[in-house]
Amino acid sequence: MFSAEHSAETVAASFAQTGDPRLRTVLTSLIEHLHAFVKDVALTPEEWEAAIGFLTEAGQACTSTRQEFVLLSDVLGVSMLVDALSNPADGELTESTVEGPFHVVASPPRALGDSIDEAGDGEPCLVTGRVADENGMPVAGASVDVWQANADGFYDVQKPDELPERNLRGLFTTDDGGGFRFRTIVPRYYPIPDDGPVGRLLRATSRHPYRPAHIHVEVSAPGLRTLTTHLFVAGTPYLGSDAVFGVKSSLVREFATVDDPDRAAGAGLPSPFRRVDFPITVRRGVAG
Ligand code: BEZ
Ligand code: FE
Repeated sequence: MFSAEHSAETVAASFAQTGDPRLRTVLTSLIEHLHAFVKDVALTPEEWEAAIGFLTEAGQACTSTRQEFVLLSDVLGVSMLVDALSNPADGELTESTVEGPFHVVASPPRALGDSIDEAGDGEPCLVTGRVADENGMPVAGASVDVWQANADGFYDVQKPDELPERNLRGLFTTDDGGGFRFRTIVPRYYPIPDDGPVGRLLRATSRHPYRPAHIHVEVSAPGLRTLTTHLFVAGTPYLGSDAVFGVKSSLVREFATVDDPDRAAGAGLPSPFRRVDFPITVRRGVAG
């Protein structure tokens, strides 16, 4: 018989025959914590109904280019916690951070040195880097997938009628020395999509929706652990209060201003331009 006192044990027992041991462990722990939470706050029927309504709206807000549940996980810090558990800081490796919900279309393959800016507005910028393994050996042929917001803080998929498709996205392959480089514009800080239930949650709790300016970088190659990370722009607002808790100080870099027409011409950019180098160290091992 069900009772409030033994609710978690009763429900957990119903999962006792689950064949997959990991699924059994996860479900049993989930029930223990969920029931303890309901008891802790003495959840009322009205609050339970509001929670169901919130989750229903979150589901209804999802489309092929909008993922409200990822946003919810992000603002609750769960995305960063899952990431931290599977990628503990190590000191030598480049730190990881959230993938976010905007990696929803494939980045177009581009040649090293190409521009990912299809729209032509923003402060021109050259990004360079090298991919190396934990022993310092360059990784040739690694994929470096980058995506970023524009100078107004929007991703292409948020403004499909205004921004060129695949704007500010690119898939690069490192050269023999593990090097990569591309031209872009300096991204701006931006609010995470806050016109849905997650935005309401932020407003109800007096939280702002902003993320500091960053470029997403995902590095993968056979025999390498895939790294999902960001390159943050030093000095951008919100470094200290990212709405999704994604900032790590090791990922913040100066985007120096270069006022030198010869160097600008060499980089294929107007003068002055901004310049950042992002060396990346990734662990060898099973991809993923
Ligand atoms: C992003 O950086 O693209 C992002 C991450 C989490 C939530 C919303 C956006
Ligand atoms: Fe982003």
